[in-house]
Amino acid sequence: MKLWATLAVLGLLVMGTWAQGLMPTIGLPPCDSPEAEAAALVAEKFLNAQHTHGYKYALNQIDKIKIISRPDQPDTYLLELDFLETTCHVLDPTPVSQCPVRQKRQTAVEAECDFALQNTTQGLSVVSFKCKTELESFEDICLGCPQLIALNDTDGVQLIEASLDDFNKNHTFNTKFALFEIGRIASQVVSGGNRYFAEYAIIDTNCTSHDDDNCIPQNHATAIHGFCQAEGSANLNQVTCKIFDTTQAANATVPVQPPLHAHTSGPHYDPAVHSSKHHKVTRLHDPAATGLLSAESAESAELVVPKAAPVVKREVASEPANAPAADAPAADAPAADAPAPDAPAPDAPAPDVPHIQPEPLLIVLVCPGKKKHF
Ligand SMILES: *[C@@H]1O[C@H](CO)[C@@H](O)[C@H](O)[C@H]1NC(C)=O
Ligand SMILES: *[C@@H]1O[C@H](CO)[C@@H](O)[C@H](O)[C@H]1NC(C)=O
Ligand SMILES: *[C@@H]1O[C@H](CO)[C@@H](O)[C@H](O)[C@H]1NC(C)=O
Ligand SMILES: *[C@@H]1O[C@H](CO)[C@@H](O)[C@H](O)[C@H]1NC(C)=O
Ligand SMILES: *[C@@H]1O[C@H](CO)[C@@H](O)[C@H](O)[C@H]1NC(C)=O
Repeated sequence: MKLWATLAVLGLLVMGTWAQGLMPTIGLPPCDSPEAEAAALVAEKFLNAQHTHGYKYALNQIDKIKIISRPDQPDTYLLELDFLETTCHVLDPTPVSQCPVRQKRQTAVEAECDFALQNTTQGLSVVSFKCKTELESFEDICLGCPQLIALNDTDGVQLIEASLDDFNKNHTFNTKFALFEIGRIASQVVSGGNRYFAEYAIIDTNCTSHDDDNCIPQNHATAIHGFCQAEGSANLNQVTCKIFDTTQAANATVPVQPPLHAHTSGPHYDPAVHSSKHHKVTRLHDPAATGLLSAESAESAELVVPKAAPVVKREVASEPANAPAADAPAADAPAADAPAPDAPAPDAPAPDVPHIQPEPLLIVLVCPGKKKHF
């Protein structure tokens, strides 16, 4: 079997190159090991700190981890991680660990990311990452449920403007809030027409509650922000807004990025940060142009030393250059790993493997790790 062949060759490599001590070694800790979790949490924190619009993202699953060690260099961690959008806006100071993830029937948004981290004397830090963000397809789950509609939908925007007016008439902060960013809009067909659901972030302006014209939003870095949820229509709606505690926000330990205003329309409209219906995480972050995330193909020359679990690792098999684009709903039952010939796991060896009935191998699925949400 191919896997065995790979291991055998590696065995030879070990013998041949050990003496030189120059080859990088690769550690493959289990995806649910404390080591992997710690690295993934550093990645999660960094991702959210980079992310200046839309919602915070929570780690859902560690797909892969690989630790590359070279003599006299900090270890490099390469991780493949899945994140889910939470219901906390990025400006919400609530720690992401306390933010509920959005459920499938609310049209979940997920991000698949590759991260490169380094363990320097200062600890683990992110060097680069790349992500792609997708809506979970859920059409079949709920026919009568609210469906996401475009962030610039006319009726949705009217609900937002009307409900923000209502809120401004009725709160006790002595300022007028302006729309900062639209998070999502959904609509549902009900008897008598459409019902709209909107989520949006607000920012205080230089107007008091009574001023009416030319209200200019305060400086984003010091302004008071809040987040509103409204439903109904422009004429009849309910709105609740939560104003964020600025003292808590100011305490954020994350490096604050220069504000990137993610306007959903208008002069600063940036299609890179959101699609028509949902926000996306940063697609690529590689300030030092390390190229670490595209160096996957160089690994065949590296020495693999499984850490902790002396078992066959799926990672050892040659990896497809690109993750599968269409998400075949990943194996829901990772425990049963009896290699069913007709349904190869997404990154299993190519299906041209001859049908030799393998000896009862001890294949322990150490990766991917457990799904934390769904
Ligand atoms: C990072 O490296 C230091 C030694 O330089 C080690 O003590 C520490 O455990 C490493 N951290 C991780 C998360 O591997
Ligand atoms: C919404 O945005 C899309 C593209 O960004 C544009 O084609 C469309 O005309 C806009 N719709 C409205 C109602 O502004
Ligand atoms: C303002 O608040 C009062 C009492 O909380 C409520 O009865 C009223 O409907 C609110 N008005 C608006 C426009 O939201
Ligand atoms: C807010 O600032 C704008 C621009 O500086 C100014 O024109 C406007 O009068 C100010 N509004 C109030 C209520 O001070
Ligand atoms: C803010 O940071 C200080 C220490 O820097 C800490 O004592 C305090 O609890 C923090 N406040 C909040 C709300 O997190």
